[in-house]
Amino acid sequence: SRYLALVPAAGSGSRFGGPSPKQYLQLNNRPLMWHTLQVLSQVAAISRVVVVISPGDEWFDDFEWDLPKLSVLRVGGASRAESVRNGLQAMEAGEQDWVLVHDAARCCLSVAAVERLIATLADDAVGGLLALPVPDTVKRADGEGRISATVPRQGLWLAQTPQMFRAGLLAEALAAATVADITDEASAVEQYGHKPRLVEGDAQNFKVTYPRDLALARAILAARKE
Ligand code: C5P
Repeated sequence: SRYLALVPAAGSGSRFGGPSPKQYLQLNNRPLMWHTLQVLSQVAAISRVVVVISPGDEWFDDFEWDLPKLSVLRVGGASRAESVRNGLQAMEAGEQDWVLVHDAARCCLSVAAVERLIATLADDAVGGLLALPVPDTVKRADGEGRISATVPRQGLWLAQTPQMFRAGLLAEALAAATVADITDEASAVEQYGHKPRLVEGDAQNFKVTYPRDLALARAILAARKE
């Protein structure tokens, strides 16, 4: 079966602010998202990289992406889950194809991490995702900025992407899910009654969310080129 990457990039980047969405910010002379798409393209097992942008996107066509496996779908929706759902429908994947959904904003993903995910899940019945054990002590806040509880971090993981599932299962799970409370593909698959596997990711695979994240992303990408 094939391995297809699906990259939702239809967000407006409201937490980030700025004139263009964060996926188009210049990072080492290229749009942030170019780096993301480039890493996925470099994974030999992946045959197609499909990026989902918003129908009203004004930025994509201004850049020469120059990535042979790349294709673009202008079917982004109001939420990330909707963008993924629309993309999955439009990309015409076979039921058994593996789809690796990856955030456009995780531009410091490494080829090695994707290959580890693919290798670990090759024979898996469900699929899974890259994730990291929570390193810090976790607090639950009350409404007044005071701690109401300390949550034992034992067994807690931070979900990253790619999240890798068979196209058929993912489409069914997303169709059944209440989209409002879904922030990743695994939660849809969980709601659908399955237990996705956690595969250890790496800290560099963080999601650029705030302007303060840019310096770190720039440094990581620059170091790779040397
Ligand atoms: O907002 P957040 O950073 O969690 O978004 C994660 C990814 O989902 C980003 O790559 C963003 O562009 C994408 N997204 C999307 N459609 C939306 C909202 C977010 O494709 N409506």
